[in-house]
Amino acid sequence: MSTAPDITQSFIGRPQSRIDGPLKVCGRATYTSDVDLPGMLYAVPVGATFASGKIMSLEFAAAQAMPGVKLILHRGNIGRFYRLAGNSIDTGFVDENRPPFEDDIVRYYGQYVALVVADTFETASAAAAAIKVGYDKTPHDVSATLEARELDVHSERGDPDRAFDGAPVKIDETYVTPVETHNPIELHATIAHWNGESYTFYETSQAVANHQGSLMQMMGLPKDKVRVISRYLGSGFGGKLWMWPHSLLAAAATRQTERPVKLVLSRKMMFQNVGHRPTTKQRLRLAATQDGKLVSLQHDFVNHAALGDDYMEDCGEATPSMYSTPNLRVTGGTVKRNVGSPTSMRGPGAVPGLFALESAMDELAIALKMDPVELRLRNEPSVDESSGLPFSSRHFVECLTTGAEKFGWNKRTPEVGSMKRDGLTLGWGVGACSWPGLRFSADATVDLRADGTARVACGTQDIGTGTYTILAQLVAEHTGIPLDRIEVGLGDTALPLGPVSGGSAATASVIPAVSDAVRGAIKTLLARAVKAEGLPFAGAKAEELSLSGGHVHRKNERPESGVPFERILEAAKLHAASGSGSAKGGFDDPLKKTWSIHSYGAHFAEVTWEPATARLRVSRVVTVIDAGKILNPRAGRNQIEGAVVMGVGMALFEHTVYDERSGAPVNSSLADYVVATNADTPKMDVTFLDYPDTVFNELGARGIAEIGLAGIAAAITGAVYHATGVRVRKLPVMIEDLLKA
Ligand code: MOS
Repeated sequence: MSTAPDITQSFIGRPQSRIDGPLKVCGRATYTSDVDLPGMLYAVPVGATFASGKIMSLEFAAAQAMPGVKLILHRGNIGRFYRLAGNSIDTGFVDENRPPFEDDIVRYYGQYVALVVADTFETASAAAAAIKVGYDKTPHDVSATLEARELDVHSERGDPDRAFDGAPVKIDETYVTPVETHNPIELHATIAHWNGESYTFYETSQAVANHQGSLMQMMGLPKDKVRVISRYLGSGFGGKLWMWPHSLLAAAATRQTERPVKLVLSRKMMFQNVGHRPTTKQRLRLAATQDGKLVSLQHDFVNHAALGDDYMEDCGEATPSMYSTPNLRVTGGTVKRNVGSPTSMRGPGAVPGLFALESAMDELAIALKMDPVELRLRNEPSVDESSGLPFSSRHFVECLTTGAEKFGWNKRTPEVGSMKRDGLTLGWGVGACSWPGLRFSADATVDLRADGTARVACGTQDIGTGTYTILAQLVAEHTGIPLDRIEVGLGDTALPLGPVSGGSAATASVIPAVSDAVRGAIKTLLARAVKAEGLPFAGAKAEELSLSGGHVHRKNERPESGVPFERILEAAKLHAASGSGSAKGGFDDPLKKTWSIHSYGAHFAEVTWEPATARLRVSRVVTVIDAGKILNPRAGRNQIEGAVVMGVGMALFEHTVYDERSGAPVNSSLADYVVATNADTPKMDVTFLDYPDTVFNELGARGIAEIGLAGIAAAITGAVYHATGVRVRKLPVMIEDLLKA
């Protein structure tokens, strides 16, 4: 188990560029769809072109006759799959529970109905296009109008209805967020290989251990028959957290052809078959005294879910602990639609949830004629009022005050359209963000090797945010071995069990496991140092020695006076000194019984508005984040900047549109699904408060990725209101909305 921090080498907290960067910019990092295996075949799925009904016939004679077509899979010949017993972050988790081709029923547009396997991608594509599906259509529903029949109570205290009725100032508004689609540049892909004894899957996966667990359960195999590898990811945004049906299609294809099979989804399928953020409708009722003390807060949310699954977008996760109020109720529910299953997308729950809550706080501030920062300051809780638990480390007030100062908020004049610069109208808005501190189980090994290098291994993944680098930094911190002599192994179920790259939890999950492992390796090394012959440690005790700067030395002496660690191994005739570590975590983390653990932050956004042409730009964003100790400020800042850019997209551009006639997502390409680009990027200023949360782990790091996308859309729509007088409660802000200004 971990002991007191022995952090002396300053690799932690250093703005370190990513150690995998050179591989990536040189094109030498092998992404999943780069994998090429001898004798490999190519698979292309056939998707339904209707959103509800029954498959009556499949005509594939023409496809079958094409030269190079090896196999056509359909319900009649795919073989047996099993449903997961239940979702568990430890043993298997899927958001689309139905194995492919389980029945003849089609429940959403694009659902797989057949698979072609051929010797080239082109042949497989042509054959897939030649398959004719006969069907009996039934009415579908993809409408975005959400009315839930039942809402479950998620959190409750006091009497929110009575307090609302009796309060002098209140707002009651409804906010809508659209379907958003993850658009990582790297398409989802599986390369499946059955070698006659076991399966290897190269996957675009944010969670190889979970993917392995899902595959073995759904294929009915023992764990040692399934290996999953995901070395590099071209991002995922949550869309690659859980296994999707194409992985099972590839599994069936390699099983039957006894050849490796590559299946890469098209961008269109990315909009149909691998999840999305569901549309949400949220009613916020807030009431306050004249001096801005919240007396009642109600948050009722609904999201759409697929017919066969029940994905909940937990929009009320942050609400119960965000502000102080004696009376509160949060409820949630789902409505069923003919859509592929929604799934986690960057900051699931909190991101749409805080758009609504923070917009409502802004509207309440206006109703109170109070500065929106001041309103938040007046409602700062001293404990988590939903549970009565103390906060492990909460510096939200400092996020607000520091951000306000950096932004120049005190120059804001509150009247709509009252601020001008260079002939443009300015709008200034603020939005708060929050994300839970999460950590999951992790194992790790560390080897200090006789060639003067070290290796650290953990079966977690690097989604592109810097996990390779963080693991190397951790080992360097404990040993002083420079980063270029540290090898990091990730993304393989053959390595020690690693956590999901999700929930912004990977770093906090691996810290205790890697620290234990490296301490174990050092202990082995020092025990040998006092015994090996020809070294200057004769007569010393292992406890009197230390490893730093890559040297073993007496604790009271300088590292350079000691011996390079590899010479100890040489003298002891050892290839390596090794250690292993293990840490527990999960959604039921016992730490959460005694502490409320969250990260916090505040965004300040400036928009410029040109009324004559209805041209709106997000020109400037100041963000202050309280996420505990920041292990790598450079990679950390990159994540928040990326989130802010994505927030510009969320506020102004992103939405997946379903065609009510066919039930298809129609803007299913990167040309038609508009995301923020470089030209939309505001001037950004990111500050981390950097207070270690040592309740959470020895270094005090909580995790950074997702929080940056929460609250930003509300800061932008607040700024839009300030500039134009138009309050947009349904994202994204459309030019039609602004023409009303
Ligand atoms: Mo994140 S939505 O947990 O990948």
